[in-house]
Amino acid sequence: MNRNQAEIDALSALRAPAMKPLVIRGRTLLPIVQGGIGVGISAHRLAGSVAREGAVGTIASIDLRHHHLDLLAFCKADPTRETLERANLVALEREIRAARKLSQGRGMIAVNVMKAVRAHADYVRVACEQGADAIVMGAGLPLDLPDLTHGHDIALIPILADSRGVALVLKKWMKKGRLPDAIVIEHPAHAGGHLGVTDFADMGHARFEFERVLTELDAVFATLGIARADVPVIVAGGINSHEAVRAALAAGADGVQVGTSFAVTEEGDAHPEFKRVLTEAQPDDIVEFVSVTGLPARAVKTPWLMRYLKNEDRIRTKIGARQQPCPQALECLSVCGLRDGIEKFGHFCIDTRLAAALRGEVGNGLFFRGRETLPFGAAIRSVRELIDLLLTGVARPAAV
Ligand SMILES: Cc1cc2nc3c(=O)[nH]c(=O)nc-3n(C[C@H](O)[C@H](O)[C@H](O)COP(=O)(O)O)c2cc1C
Repeated sequence: MNRNQAEIDALSALRAPAMKPLVIRGRTLLPIVQGGIGVGISAHRLAGSVAREGAVGTIASIDLRHHHLDLLAFCKADPTRETLERANLVALEREIRAARKLSQGRGMIAVNVMKAVRAHADYVRVACEQGADAIVMGAGLPLDLPDLTHGHDIALIPILADSRGVALVLKKWMKKGRLPDAIVIEHPAHAGGHLGVTDFADMGHARFEFERVLTELDAVFATLGIARADVPVIVAGGINSHEAVRAALAAGADGVQVGTSFAVTEEGDAHPEFKRVLTEAQPDDIVEFVSVTGLPARAVKTPWLMRYLKNEDRIRTKIGARQQPCPQALECLSVCGLRDGIEKFGHFCIDTRLAAALRGEVGNGLFFRGRETLPFGAAIRSVRELIDLLLTGVARPAAV
């Protein structure tokens, strides 16, 4: 059974009386956003399933060719940057089309694009051309997003960490006559993947606390003459229970974005071993380290990461400042510690490691994960059960 709009409204209103629906660019949604989870973990199945429930499902745009055997064969036959890039764009087209079909027109299909990715403008173009409902951009300041999407009716949603970043983006965008359709505020002390700080020591700073950011945003909006209601604010990082959702909404958020808990749902597009590694990880198994992007990242201490971190200092001293050809030929990042020889950045091929995790290769992969416990512990449950639990505190078994 799928939900129609009336059911979504009824669910929000009746089962979770304090929860207002999230409204983005005129669309009424459950106040739940499934965050972009790359490489390939939030592809069409996860994003389409979340959207079908009336929430926001997000396809992570980076390197989706790994889901398409024909495209992988095409890349193997001609492993050049042009071919790999072309394959990824075709894969993104296919994933958006498949997610839209699965969603049956419900909810919203967003495409997550990381600014740090060299081909970010191409991913944005394909998302617009294929009729995605929104672009969610993080891992760098999305100052050029209004220009890249000019002439397209698509919601634009930046991911930022604090009110300073929001003020900067708002001022730039307002000069171009555009407001964000929503903003995601991601807390670096809790979220998975790349974190929005340059310095580890900064991660727990009070300026990232949701209550503080939300209060500061009222002042930022007032100064810029923007009505707070015009730009919904979605908080991300460590939202793992109904109580956490209620607390975020009570503090003034309009919605929550959830990553790790969606990554391990039945519909998550990764291999079951990927989900096992994330669900079984204990607090001591989770670590922060410097990624090849230069940003801190959070992941599970799996064998490859343990080996890398043990040798990190030696690797830096030995080859840290040496430029190297990209092992994948893709040159996925605009700036890469390994390729560009930036000593203080990480030195490994992130694309190779994340793709291995997607395939469930526990020994070789890099398994990004948020810091907090999961709502269903080590159990793998459906998207619907997760959404119900977050909204109501009760998880009904999935309907067939
Ligand atoms: C495995 C994994 C991969 C992620 N990949 C991306 C990504 O490609 N782009 C992005 O903007 N955020 C990414 N994130 C962050 C999530 O979208 C989300 O904002 C974050 O995980 C929220 O915190 P939570 O995991 O505590 O719910 C990733 C998170 C995880 C756990």
